[in-house]
Amino acid sequence: MFYNIPQAILARMRHLEERDAMDRADGTARLQRLRQVPPETGKFIALLAASAPDGAFIEIGTSAGYSALWLALACRLRGTTLTTFELLPEKARMAEETFRAAGVRDVVTLIQGDARDYLQDHKDIAFCFLDAEKESYSDCYEAVVPNMAPGGLLVADNAVNCRETLKPMLDRALSDDRVDALVVPIGKGELVCRRNTQ
Ligand SMILES: C[S@@+](CC[C@H](N)C(=O)[O-])C[C@H]1O[C@@H](n2cnc3c(N)ncnc32)[C@H](O)[C@@H]1O
Repeated sequence: MFYNIPQAILARMRHLEERDAMDRADGTARLQRLRQVPPETGKFIALLAASAPDGAFIEIGTSAGYSALWLALACRLRGTTLTTFELLPEKARMAEETFRAAGVRDVVTLIQGDARDYLQDHKDIAFCFLDAEKESYSDCYEAVVPNMAPGGLLVADNAVNCRETLKPMLDRALSDDRVDALVVPIGKGELVCRRNTQ
């Protein structure tokens, strides 16, 4: 998966990595910043998604589409698709440009709006990446878990750097017998949950 990334995807990844680094350095306002995951988190979610059971992938919090490009690699490998949700119209516009430039529109569908308005329609979720505003994590977790395929995976970003803010949701996931869960210290900390099969 990582040794034959198409040139168009690699080029767009580099472009977004440079833009994200610039945003962080030049004091761009928070809502305008891309706030995307670092490359090691992108690789981590791609590896997990590639190992998920059969079913669809979803992402909550697209920004300009950087993490979705990593997940698109796993979609190609597994013959499945990703639906990704982005609240802000300007970010959604950038993400559409990312998916066009990277040539992944056949496997990635972007929905502009609040993911919480759509999650009930998504069943048999094999993989979910949750990377939105922290206030929405609990709602998204509760909406996604009942709709996960057996053995399906949910990964939530910022489980270490936002540990205090996310504590109610993290405590819930770590003691929820519908899933096996732990926090992995990679990037900003990833909560990884696997839906139990019984
Ligand atoms: C941290 S950024 C996502 C970064 C992206 N996953 C990446 O690594 O390339 C969070 C994004 O989630 C969006 N967002 C926040 N709450 C949302 C919600 N309820 N539904 C959909 N998108 C949301 C924000 O507008 C923002 O662009």
